[in-house]
Amino acid sequence: MVRTSEGYDPLLRRPFSIHRVAPLSSPTRLALLFTVVGRGTKWLAERGEGDMLDLLGPLGHGFEISSRSRALLLLAGGIGIAPLVAVAEKGIADGAQVTLVLGAQSKAQLYPSHLLLPEVKLVVATEDGSAGRRGMVTDLLAELALEADQIFACGPLAMYKAIAPIIKGEKGEKSVQVSMEVRMGCGFGACYGCAIETKAGMRFVCRDGPVFDLKDIIW
Ligand SMILES: Cc1cc2nc3c(=O)[nH]c(=O)nc-3n(C[C@H](O)[C@H](O)[C@H](O)COP(=O)(O)OP(=O)(O)OC[C@H]3O[C@@H](n4cnc5c(N)ncnc54)[C@H](O)[C@@H]3O)c2cc1C
Ligand code: FES
Repeated sequence: MVRTSEGYDPLLRRPFSIHRVAPLSSPTRLALLFTVVGRGTKWLAERGEGDMLDLLGPLGHGFEISSRSRALLLLAGGIGIAPLVAVAEKGIADGAQVTLVLGAQSKAQLYPSHLLLPEVKLVVATEDGSAGRRGMVTDLLAELALEADQIFACGPLAMYKAIAPIIKGEKGEKSVQVSMEVRMGCGFGACYGCAIETKAGMRFVCRDGPVFDLKDIIW
């Protein structure tokens, strides 16, 4: 949770994924990757070298890679790539095959491929067809899911809603870990602002998530 003002506008911290962490030999470095959508992210984008940021975290529960998984499928919709780069790097370090489906509206919004490890098998999809295949990340899912031991997704809620029936139709329905994006007030379970309904009852995205198994979420 990042304070995105020096005063009271905006008052509430904004939630961000941890995009990258430096190797343990230099523990003070951490990267965020974000899009400017409003006041808080505009303020953040205006910070420069040497400015201080007030952060609260890390909070919640992230993606979990099983030690038995040999093939990982990562689905990134737009800025949803932010937490998945670290998942890809961890998967590669653990010796797994990693396929990343990177989707965006157009080429200009795609995450730069040279920032990914060369071992990552990259599949690009853009809605306007300006790079990779024309279409949505989910158009490629049925084909790619067959080979995957685990699936991880980060993107808009509409993407998760599209994934659910595709995965359900697969033989031996696979678990898909999704990072839920909701508005957050506190980030640690105090304000009840981020509650969602799951098959196990109400859960807080900030404290119990943001990563949940897709099949546990009630839409
Ligand atoms: C767990 C989590 C991780 C996130 N990680 C990242 C990240 O790594 N990079 C990144 O760019 N963004 C991320 N986000 C989204 C980010 O928190 C919002 O973009 C940010 O809070 C917007 O703040 P703002 O003050 O700029 O916009 P505001 O002025 O608050 O809002 C601007 C517009 O964006 C909409 N909006 C704002 N926040 C959200 C939201 N959470 N869900 C849907 N619509 C919203 C508002 O309805 C409004 O239309 C994450 C969100 C969550 C919950
Ligand atoms: S953001 Fe306050 S309870 Fe989750």
